[in-house]
Amino acid sequence: MASKSFNPVTLIRKKRDGQSLAREEIAFLIEEYTKDALPDYQMSAFLMAAFLNQLDEREASALTEAMLHSGKVLDLSDIPGKKVDKHSTGGVGDKLSLILAPIVASYDVSVPMISGRGLGHTGGTLDKLESIPGFKVDVDLERYRQILSRAKMVMAGQTEDVAPADKRLYALRDVTATVESIPLIASSIMSKKLAEGIDALVLDVKFGSGAFMKTRKDAQKLAETLVAIGEDFGKQTVAYLTNMNQPLGYKIGNWLEVEESMEALQGQGPEDVMEVTHTLAGTMIWLGGRAESVEDGIKKSKQAVKNGQAFDKWLELTEEQGGDTSVLKDFSKYSKAEYSFEFTISVEGYITEMDAYSIGMASLELGAGRKTKEDEVDPAAGIELKAKIGSSVKKNETLAVGFTNNKKAIDEAKKILANAFTVEDTNVNKQPMVTHRVDKHGIHEI
Ligand code: URA
Repeated sequence: MASKSFNPVTLIRKKRDGQSLAREEIAFLIEEYTKDALPDYQMSAFLMAAFLNQLDEREASALTEAMLHSGKVLDLSDIPGKKVDKHSTGGVGDKLSLILAPIVASYDVSVPMISGRGLGHTGGTLDKLESIPGFKVDVDLERYRQILSRAKMVMAGQTEDVAPADKRLYALRDVTATVESIPLIASSIMSKKLAEGIDALVLDVKFGSGAFMKTRKDAQKLAETLVAIGEDFGKQTVAYLTNMNQPLGYKIGNWLEVEESMEALQGQGPEDVMEVTHTLAGTMIWLGGRAESVEDGIKKSKQAVKNGQAFDKWLELTEEQGGDTSVLKDFSKYSKAEYSFEFTISVEGYITEMDAYSIGMASLELGAGRKTKEDEVDPAAGIELKAKIGSSVKKNETLAVGFTNNKKAIDEAKKILANAFTVEDTNVNKQPMVTHRVDKHGIHEI
């Protein structure tokens, strides 16, 4: 949208005083910022005003549109069939993209997936993919289309020309304490996803100790905002609220999560991982027009794991993207971390709570994540849990095994883990993994 000219100070004052900005006013701010005509200090002031006074739904949609059009919007209409993607708001042990994308693509629904790197305590799909020797995530647009046409899926990183305004704004929000705003998060996520050229989107909005949204209420608000923006742009958008009060599955860390994903694709996935995977994959198969209902999609998702077609699809994609498939079939061929240690407890009882955030931080400390933007991740670092909420544990039993190539990190990781498990005499009820679905008709309990 070519915008009219405005006085940035007037717009900042308007937002500061709690008024709503018009679509063209927001477009002006983003356009000017993208071409370096609006300085960081004015954008920072606007962001803080938007953070404190909130953006309403119309403003969030306008911000999404402006960021979406700050760069290239992929046109995949020459590739037959519907293109459906999934986005997760981030969690600990969240390896679902690696499992559900091949399930969905194995039904000829195209999955064009642009993913990110680890953020804070949460892991990122790109770092996981790069732990597979040779796997290339930096593919240019032409190659991106080629892989998608051939394999029906592609997994790549965000290039400079996709939603560049979001990239710059996100970096600015990170250093101006304006990340944790639902409309700002929703616009940031949706501008990138809409630039992918998708027809439909499934969102996994996590709540709990390992999620950015700690409460279910905030997750619901974020899901509603994401769905409203998606539908506003004419894309079928379905969100699920899912539990992140403990890590997903047992393995946390880049290669470890690839291992668990390969196990899952061969029918050996942990129950919590598979419950969320099948719900999201089933919905994607349905949105892609290959199932009569979400329930039918879920049935198909389970079949694809059982008959091996999803694992075959993963091997096909890995070969397309230059990865070594031999390590995926035989984990003993992968070079393991030099050091490992066991984390034990001195009490007995039932694990009633786990602090997924701390477990994510302990894994990061061991090398699985970054403390500064420049840090390199250690693909082999991470944590394998031996117990989860509801497990009964004995005195001196091992609750987790840590892996690292940095011996000095072990003591700090153990210190962090020491506060991550609550053990009590009485057990707790099992927590549901997928609690609600949010779509254009509203919120529905599952
Ligand atoms: N992920 C994003 O892409 N953007 C945000 O603002 C937060 C999480």
